[in-house]
Amino acid sequence: MIPLRHPAREKFFHCVEKMLGFFHGVENPGRTQARLRAVRAPPATAMKIGIDLISFHTPSYYLDLRTLAEKRGVDPDKFVIGIGQERMAVVPPDQDIVTLAANAALPIVEKAGRENIELLIFATESGVDQSKAAACFCHRLLGLPAACRCIEVKEACYGATASLRMAAAMVAARPHTRALILAADIARYDLASPGEPTQGAGAVAMLVATRPRVLALDPETGFYTEDIMDFWRPNYREEAFVDGKYSTRMYLTTLIEAWNSYKAASGRGLADHAHYCFHLPFTKIARKSFERLCKADGIELPPKPEIERLLDAGLLYNRQTGNTYAACVYESLCSLLDNAPAALDDQRLGLFSYGSGCMAEFFSGIVQRGHREHLFTDQHRAQLDTRVPVTYRQYEDIFNYGVPKDGADHVFAPYRGGPFRLAGIKDHKRRYEAK
Ligand code: HMG
Repeated sequence: MIPLRHPAREKFFHCVEKMLGFFHGVENPGRTQARLRAVRAPPATAMKIGIDLISFHTPSYYLDLRTLAEKRGVDPDKFVIGIGQERMAVVPPDQDIVTLAANAALPIVEKAGRENIELLIFATESGVDQSKAAACFCHRLLGLPAACRCIEVKEACYGATASLRMAAAMVAARPHTRALILAADIARYDLASPGEPTQGAGAVAMLVATRPRVLALDPETGFYTEDIMDFWRPNYREEAFVDGKYSTRMYLTTLIEAWNSYKAASGRGLADHAHYCFHLPFTKIARKSFERLCKADGIELPPKPEIERLLDAGLLYNRQTGNTYAACVYESLCSLLDNAPAALDDQRLGLFSYGSGCMAEFFSGIVQRGHREHLFTDQHRAQLDTRVPVTYRQYEDIFNYGVPKDGADHVFAPYRGGPFRLAGIKDHKRRYEAK
């Protein structure tokens, strides 16, 4: 195998960068950066594309991690302080990724209308069918136009970021159209395993359009991939396998790879971003990530209150839901937009998306003036405030109940939740309904 920094490899990438710069003006790290930047820099009149609306949904039940800690004989501070998680979302049997995503998206289509939505991408690693895209179920539930491409995308927690880039490219090519991205996941690890307290569930929906009302994406981005086994879930398993420490190391290593690539593409540094949103398998990783970025750039770590100002508003929701995989970094974005300590108008945000396996991307966007009027802050807060706690016994029962896999017909009792639910399975077909 050729080592990473072998001269032959460097030369090869140098040629590829040259070609890419010539044909597409795409972002790539390396010696040609200064010249590529000139190709990439958008003209002053460049069309803004980005997140027009963003909405988040999580199940109506949760387990307090202090309850879990007591049951596992662990000091609760390990969960609450050590990994930075307070509660984990618990998914009742009549909710799945389809209902979670449709519940997240409904406020968006009700507010922005359904016309010209020509692309519906569902990013998930908790798919409900090996063939049919979860997007097709949501397309009907949301009443979207028939002239709409519906697909499902997977790369662990990274899928929604790939979807965002694809959607932005479609909208750039056809500026009168819009794309809807759904990101939903249910994070499951074995009971009593180290990953258990990081479980969670939730969904984010994002409308991508020109002249976005919430976040205009910067064209420059830095990305990195490597074939590794840090976290994976074979088709025959309901729960993920994970090498927790290795996955955390790879998250932080690839953060720096993606950051260096982004810096080279954009010419920006840490001081150019007003806040950061990271992929949050557990919220403590945000601080570790920021420390790594400072170290990589040789910058002294700011005092604690300044780090809290940069990060904390973006952690509030994720602390309450646990890992939402594909939705995670966008849930953090919702949390920041809804709870920022000061106005974010015209501020640039830095975002980091990581998917095990692995894919990493650092990118940025500018919060649009007047965005506050277009947020779903009240709904988000009300959802989290009205959730119902479950006992440890109820959590374990729901964990083991899952969805029957024997192929028999099944009817699900109604639980608390959003407007859509999974009513049952009949003739091997999932039956979704509006409440
Ligand atoms: P662990 O090994 O049981 O925990 O699980 P630990 O012993 O490393 O302790 C965790 C932290 O708590 C440590 O802090 C301890 O010091 C502290 P750190 O040194 O790291 O700063 N601690 C305490 N603090 C206060 N009071 C106490 C106390 N005791 C200990 N009494 C691990 C941690 C992350 C490994 C586990 O939760 C796990 O396996 N999680 C699942 C994997 C994961 O989340 N990986 C993250 C990166 S990979 C990723 O993000 C992708 C992913 O989202 C999947 C996808 O892409 O689809 C997972």
